[in-house]
Amino acid sequence: MEADAVNRHSSSAGNPFNQTSSTDPSAQVIAAVVIVIVVIIKIVILVVVCLKRAEARRSSVGPDSGFMPPTMLKFLGDMEREKTISFTSQQLAIATDNFKHLLGSGGFGSVYKGVFSNGTMVAVKVLNGTSDKRIEEQFKAEVSTLGRTHHVNLVRLYGYCFEKCLRALVYEYMGNGSLDHYLFRENKKLGFEKLHEIAVGTARGIAYLHEDCQHQIIHYDIKPGNVLLDANFCPKVADFGLAKLCHRDNTHIAMTGGRGTPGYAAPELWMPSPVTRKCDVYSFGMLLFEIIGRRRNMDVTLPDSQEWFPTWVWTKFEKGELGDLMSACAIEAKDTEMAERMVKLALCCVQYRPEPRPLMSLVVKMLEGALEVPTPSNPFRFMNAAPSPGFLPLMAWDPSAFDSNSSQTVTGSTFVNGTPIMTKYGICAPSN
Ligand SMILES: Nc1ncnc2c1ncn2[C@@H]1O[C@H](COP(=O)(O)OP(=O)(O)O)[C@@H](O)[C@H]1O
Ligand SMILES: [Mg+2]
Repeated sequence: MEADAVNRHSSSAGNPFNQTSSTDPSAQVIAAVVIVIVVIIKIVILVVVCLKRAEARRSSVGPDSGFMPPTMLKFLGDMEREKTISFTSQQLAIATDNFKHLLGSGGFGSVYKGVFSNGTMVAVKVLNGTSDKRIEEQFKAEVSTLGRTHHVNLVRLYGYCFEKCLRALVYEYMGNGSLDHYLFRENKKLGFEKLHEIAVGTARGIAYLHEDCQHQIIHYDIKPGNVLLDANFCPKVADFGLAKLCHRDNTHIAMTGGRGTPGYAAPELWMPSPVTRKCDVYSFGMLLFEIIGRRRNMDVTLPDSQEWFPTWVWTKFEKGELGDLMSACAIEAKDTEMAERMVKLALCCVQYRPEPRPLMSLVVKMLEGALEVPTPSNPFRFMNAAPSPGFLPLMAWDPSAFDSNSSQTVTGSTFVNGTPIMTKYGICAPSN
């Protein structure tokens, strides 16, 4: 009896509906109905919220964006799956607001800022030339390879457009633009340590192209304009694979003929010699000089001895006067050790012959300080007093004659005795 009372008490304690259950069966029914109603209301609220969210998602794709929802959903899906996307010219015209915001122009075309309706910011590079149907399949295959080439230090290629009226590449947008701006214009904004980090990241990106991706990619156009900086100033190499994509008649690995940008292009690119990935090492060395000096390698406003920075650096290195260099470049005492390493490495990278130039993976290690930098020999020992006549007006390094930011291509059989720099400074190719 007592136990029964205890049981009844404990079973009713946790449930307020139970308190009346023993006394009133109709109240029990009411309680059950209330529970059912509450559950139904909750389900209805849940369904309404879900429907509203789906509606909001659909409207953010936006019928006025020019993308029909299925297209946009496919686009988003492809982006997530990291597939290379084929865009129509209409989609790119909408994303760029009719190619309104020009970011810059280079040897391959003009670059415009764009944004897709899902908020993804892009840089659309409109390529020069025509969309020849005969190369369409090859173009698509190559773009798809480039689109699958991912590394934290490489600018991502989202997709392309190949239409009669428009041939374009769509890249991720890099908020802080290109490194040249921070070396030559706002050259106080980034400290030496940050510039060193940028050099390491850039070297890692190139090393990946050369040594780690499925098909080796030689860049051919390493220069500050092709090192882009994201919102955190993390460097990413741009335009890899473009030389091959835009010069269909040459093979990938062993091609000859001038290309690249004067001042950065390795000697073998201007001569009928085989070209290997070491040409990028040379260009990286030239870039490294510009990072150290926060100036263009060629600056005609400076006294003759400093006009071309790399030879001045060599002179200072050879004489053991790197202190002069540190003060001329405003490098603080805390950064001198790192700067000396970079100087030696830059001199190793711009060796005249490709063989002694280090592989990019070693360049990374040397920059990081994990590997000793070997003592470089004089990269400019092929100096010759007589520049080759006739060629000088066309090819000599003259910033006013050349747009030094643009890739210049010398086509056909225009082989020369040296790069523009070599010509101007009377550096001649050594005889074999
Ligand atoms: N993905 C990008 N994001 C932001 N800006 C870019 C991007 N790609 C190119 N740019 C800008 O457009 C300019 C022109 O680029 P490009 O045509 O590749 O010429 P170049 O490589 O000769 O400088 C670059 O200097 C850079 O400032
Ligand atoms: Mg570029």
